[in-house]
Amino acid sequence: MRNRSVTLIFVSLVLWAVVTYFIFLDQPVGKDQDKVDKLSNQISRLEKKVKQQIIINQELLEGLNENKRRKKQYEKSSAAQLPIDETEKDKYKKHENNNVKSILLKKIEDSNARNKPTHDTILPDEPVHDVTSVQKLPDGSPVIAILVVSCNRITVERCLDQLIKLRPSKEQFPIVVSQDCDHRQTADVIARYGNQLLHIKQPDQSDIDIPPKEKKFRGYFKIARHYKWALNQVFVKLGYNTAIIVEDDLDVAPDFYEYFLGTYPLLVNDSSLWCVSAWNDNGKANLVDEHAPHLLYRTDFFPGLGWMLTRDLWLELAPKWPKSYWDDWVRQPEQRKNRACIRPEISRTRTFGKLGVSNGLFFEKHLKYIKLNEQFVPFTKMNLSYLLKDNYDIAFVNDVYQSTVVSYSELKSGNIVAPGPVRIPYYTRQSFKNTSKLLGLMDDFRSGVPRSGYRGVVTFFYNGRRVHLAPSANWSGYDITWS
Ligand SMILES: *[C@@H]1O[C@H](CO)[C@@H](O)[C@H](O)[C@H]1NC(C)=O
Ligand SMILES: *[C@@H]1O[C@H](CO)[C@@H](O)[C@H](O)[C@H]1NC(C)=O
Ligand SMILES: *[C@@H]1O[C@H](CO)[C@@H](O)[C@H](O)[C@H]1NC(C)=O
Ligand SMILES: *[C@@H]1O[C@H](CO)[C@@H](O)[C@H](O)[C@H]1NC(C)=O
Repeated sequence: MRNRSVTLIFVSLVLWAVVTYFIFLDQPVGKDQDKVDKLSNQISRLEKKVKQQIIINQELLEGLNENKRRKKQYEKSSAAQLPIDETEKDKYKKHENNNVKSILLKKIEDSNARNKPTHDTILPDEPVHDVTSVQKLPDGSPVIAILVVSCNRITVERCLDQLIKLRPSKEQFPIVVSQDCDHRQTADVIARYGNQLLHIKQPDQSDIDIPPKEKKFRGYFKIARHYKWALNQVFVKLGYNTAIIVEDDLDVAPDFYEYFLGTYPLLVNDSSLWCVSAWNDNGKANLVDEHAPHLLYRTDFFPGLGWMLTRDLWLELAPKWPKSYWDDWVRQPEQRKNRACIRPEISRTRTFGKLGVSNGLFFEKHLKYIKLNEQFVPFTKMNLSYLLKDNYDIAFVNDVYQSTVVSYSELKSGNIVAPGPVRIPYYTRQSFKNTSKLLGLMDDFRSGVPRSGYRGVVTFFYNGRRVHLAPSANWSGYDITWS
């Protein structure tokens, strides 16, 4: 079995090398440009396939090695350990057997889909129900892993205290803290939580090759590498189907878990959604309706900062995961593919400030004014189907374009007679920016999308009014040159 995998990988590598060689050899010369373009398209498609195959094979091989290693360990200690961090022996005792089995089964399921006859040979007698044990509770409700991304800030304690205190169920929301940076004090802080969470450590602390111009952005390279490793642990190794990513500097709202549990069915049923975020980029106290904590929106802008994704999305992004600036990369059309996120009127996370890589100025000027929701909203008992694309888009476009058009000064003065929501039109990048500045909205774009925008419309609350800052009704897509 193992030899076969090695051979497979070897063959894949050779294929890949040959293909790459031909790409370089066949540099286009002069006239037959079209043909050459076509050919190189074909080659790059082929190359992609080969690369995917290599990744699949590597995962398979890892799984095999792990299986062997675990067997040996098992024989020695009679209690199987999670393979992630050998020093964390007592953590997750209760779950570990299930995890170990399901990880492997899951992995095999994956490779099985493309790589037929491995199932029986590796795990002849695994009961099938173990696969679902890290994905569903016995009553069928989803298990959602909370991945806390940590590095060298002992203030991760503040975040963990809240996550644990508010957590309705340890089984439903297993917390995995992934620590990069090898920081002793932070590791000690995390270790104190014992079996309330799983503490894993990024083993790769090697120097990263960074282009000279980008040396000062080293932190972003480390973060991207860490995310990739941590998400692979959560989705591939531990086998979870769904995860919420929480950074180590976030406060969370009382209904943080309820929010994600309530929106979970939307995420899995609506393929035009790719994330649920706890964050409203324009969620400052004076820009939200404090009486509408139940209100949710769709947004084309990936907000991050406490967000839920599925394993399927991770498997799609992982093979091309970037070396740095992953969040802006995710916002590019090639990754987003026109998919939207759910975001709340009032944020369910708030950052309490960070030193280090993140821009301190951005925090001082903006992030620290974001309002954290304080009321518990029973999302799981509410009908949220208005957020499904087919329902939402029609209602949203109607609401926006049937609203009364006003100017910024009218809105500011509060002398608007017509009831209901209002609209401030914008037609150019600059007019969007000007109006945003006046209102205190974020005025930047990523791949042409304004923060919290949906179909180009930024919706917020001002002077007791719902307001849409909106492009013309014939809007037909984002202009990625807007920045
Ligand atoms: C979505 O999927 C869930 C199962 O995950 C199902 O119970 C629900 O009825 C589906 N439909 C909607 C509109 O949520
Ligand atoms: C939920 O709301 C939708 C409208 O968005 C409506 O069509 C549907 O009947 C509602 N479902 C329930 C169970 O009330
Ligand atoms: C935006 O504001 C600047 C000055 O603040 C002004 O010169 C410019 O004309 C405005 N542009 C638009 C499109 O409103
Ligand atoms: C869209 O509408 C605006 C005015 O509302 C108009 O100036 C513009 O030419 C229209 N664009 C297209 C492509 O129809």
